[in-house]
Amino acid sequence: MHTISINNVQFSYGAQTILDGIDLEVLAGEFICLLGPSGCGKSTLLRLLAGLAKPTLGSIALDGAPITAPGLDRGVVFQDYSLFPWMTTGQNVVLALEQAFPGKPKNEQRETAQAYLEMVGLDNVFHKLPGALSGGMRQRAAIARAFAINSPVLLMDEPFGALDAITRARLQDLLLQLWQQNKGERKTVIFVTHDVEEAILLASRVVVMGLNPGSVRGVFDVSIPRPRVRQELYGTPEFIALRDRLIGELHADVLDELDEGRTVRTAGEGI
Ligand SMILES: Nc1ncnc2c1ncn2[C@@H]1O[C@H](COP(=O)(O)OP(=O)(O)OP(=O)(O)O)[C@@H](O)[C@H]1O
Ligand SMILES: [Mg+2]
Repeated sequence: MHTISINNVQFSYGAQTILDGIDLEVLAGEFICLLGPSGCGKSTLLRLLAGLAKPTLGSIALDGAPITAPGLDRGVVFQDYSLFPWMTTGQNVVLALEQAFPGKPKNEQRETAQAYLEMVGLDNVFHKLPGALSGGMRQRAAIARAFAINSPVLLMDEPFGALDAITRARLQDLLLQLWQQNKGERKTVIFVTHDVEEAILLASRVVVMGLNPGSVRGVFDVSIPRPRVRQELYGTPEFIALRDRLIGELHADVLDELDEGRTVRTAGEGI
C-alpha cells in the first residue's frame, strides 16, 4: 500500500498563503520528483507530509488515514540535514534505529548504523560530532539515517544538493536500488530537487510547482524504461523532449514576469 492523497491543500503562515489548491494522488511505489522555483513551498509541502505541520485547509492522508504527526512509516531527509549536534554521527543513526526497531541489541544497532554510513561513503565518522563534518558529509549522514530505518515512504528534500557529481551519482544509484529492493513492494518516494536531469533520471512522475502561491503547474509521466543509464539517457530524444518541456514549464512564471516588465517598459517609453 502506502498511497498518499493530497486533497485541495492550502497552507498559510499568518496572512501569507504559501500553498494553495494542491491536489496530488501518489500511488504506492511511485517515485515522485518535485521541481519548482525557490520559495514555491516544496519544503513546506514536505513538512506537511512528514506531519510536522498541518494544512490550513484540505487534507493529506496516507492509506486513507490523515497525517497528523511524524511516524516511522516515513523516513525524512530535510534540506538542512537536521542531525542532533550534541550526539556523534553514529549515535544519530543509532537513535533512529532504536525508535524504528526497539528491543534490538545495542551492538547490532551500532553495526547497522555503521553499515548504512559506509553505504553512503562515510566509513570513519561514527564517533565524530556532526559539527566536525563537511556539509556534504552531514547531508550523507542524514541520508544514511533515513535509509537505515527502511521505511516504506521516503520524503527527501534536495538530499543530494551539497554533493559533488560523482558522490551524487553514486547516491542516486543507491537510492534507486533501495527504492526497488523489495520486489513487488517498492517504496513510495517524494524527492525535491532543483535539477531537471536528476528528476528525469529518478522519477516515475515529475510534479512541477509554480509560485505565488505555491501550486501544481503540471504533472509529467516519465515513461523512459529502467534501468536508465546516464550516458545513454542524456542523448535520447525522449529525454531531451521531456527536459525541454520541464524547463519551459518551470520558467513559465519567470518568462511571464519578464514579458510583463517589457510591456510596461515599452508603454513607458512612448510617454
Ligand atoms: N517559518 C516560516 N514562517 C514564515 N514564512 C515561512 C516560514 N518557512 C517558510 N516560509 C515561507 O514559505 C515560502 C515557501 O518556503 P519553502 O521553504 O517551502 O520553499 P521551497 O520551495 O522549499 O524553496 P527552496 O527551493 O529555496 O528550498 C517562502 O516564501 C518562505 O519565505
Ligand atoms: Mg526548500
